[in-house]
Amino acid sequence: MDLPKVYAKVPIAVELKEGHKYAWCSCGLSENQPWCNGAHKGTDFTPKVFVAEETKTAYMCQCKAAKNPCFCDGTHKTLE
Ligand code: FES
Repeated sequence: MDLPKVYAKVPIAVELKEGHKYAWCSCGLSENQPWCNGAHKGTDFTPKVFVAEETKTAYMCQCKAAKNPCFCDGTHKTLE
């Protein structure tokens, strides 16, 4: 598995809470999108862990091709 699986070609809106730690799925295999559920085991992918800097609605990438993961940047529109 060289490339991540395109889980969906649309972002998903989530409510982030300031100070909370999140693990964004980078492999596209998790069934708990956009978050890691451990499904990357056995691949070279690891989740992107981050701490939310503020409480807000965020649009998380689900196509796994965003140039600056893990937020949607519109790259999904360029996928076949
Ligand atoms: Fe990946 Fe928009 S869902 S860039």
